[in-house]
Amino acid sequence: MDDKEIRVFAPATVANVACGFDQLGFALSHPGDEVVVRFTDRPGLVITHITGADGKLSCDPRENTAGVSALAMLEALDKKDLGIEMEIHKKMPLGSGLGSSAASSVAGVFAVNELLGRPFEKKGLLPFALEGEFLAHKAYVADNVTSSLLGGILLLKDVEHNLDVQPLPVPAELYAAVVYPQVEILTKTARAILSPTITLKQHIEQSGNLGGFIVGLFKSDYDLIARSLRDVVIEPQRAHLIPHFYIVKEAALHAGALGCSISGSGPSVFALCKGNDIADQVGLAMQQVFQDAGIPCEVFVSAINTEGAIKL
Ligand code: HSE
Repeated sequence: MDDKEIRVFAPATVANVACGFDQLGFALSHPGDEVVVRFTDRPGLVITHITGADGKLSCDPRENTAGVSALAMLEALDKKDLGIEMEIHKKMPLGSGLGSSAASSVAGVFAVNELLGRPFEKKGLLPFALEGEFLAHKAYVADNVTSSLLGGILLLKDVEHNLDVQPLPVPAELYAAVVYPQVEILTKTARAILSPTITLKQHIEQSGNLGGFIVGLFKSDYDLIARSLRDVVIEPQRAHLIPHFYIVKEAALHAGALGCSISGSGPSVFALCKGNDIADQVGLAMQQVFQDAGIPCEVFVSAINTEGAIKL
């Protein structure tokens, strides 16, 4: 038996990025999940243990996003009976709006692909990673998995018909500050409350913001990025799920953030900033609001991760 062991890292992500609901995402340098895989004589995929999830995740590979994504790939290769052991080390909060299920989903399939000598190129793993997301959210939402796998800032031009994912430029001084308040919001719930329709006025404003953000990235025009990081569609519908959201946002903008909105479906709140120092200050300002309200929270300040999932 091949005694090689593979350890991989898949990063946390910020989906939507204010102006691109289900269309934009970016990866953080940290936190993220680690998965370790090795061959074993016993046939089939087995999850031997999970750390960092307080017993909240199943070790049944069919009930775990890392297991489901890896199984989907093994099935496509007709290798479901191959003996593989998997360990999952959750190094980021669950249900946080930081793409926790997606990071595990990506790490699971990426690790097994490495173990098997890369039968698939990186992008080819997306359909399998999406199966993990489906398990978690009962919807094929691709913004977190694509960002965690591929890294960078991504535009999901089309997911419905084919996976048309476009990488966008990452301006050198762009940093993210993310604060995770410990309140629970299920993505399923946060999606269920959304109106299925928007007005023509909202459409015009939001597509202007999305276009402006993309042009801002191409030109490294931080003022244009700041003017475009606005969400007139989703944020007003979800803000009430996050206690003190508008005060946190005000604090971030006051501390110098280019823009601030809900990370994915929340409860985390992200801000994009010009420079690491401003991002540090913005992170502290957002944290202070939650702390003053007696809500425990964690802060992550990070450059944009342009690598995505990596072998450690
Ligand atoms: N775009 C998703 C949402 C994030 O906001 O519901 C979860 O992938």
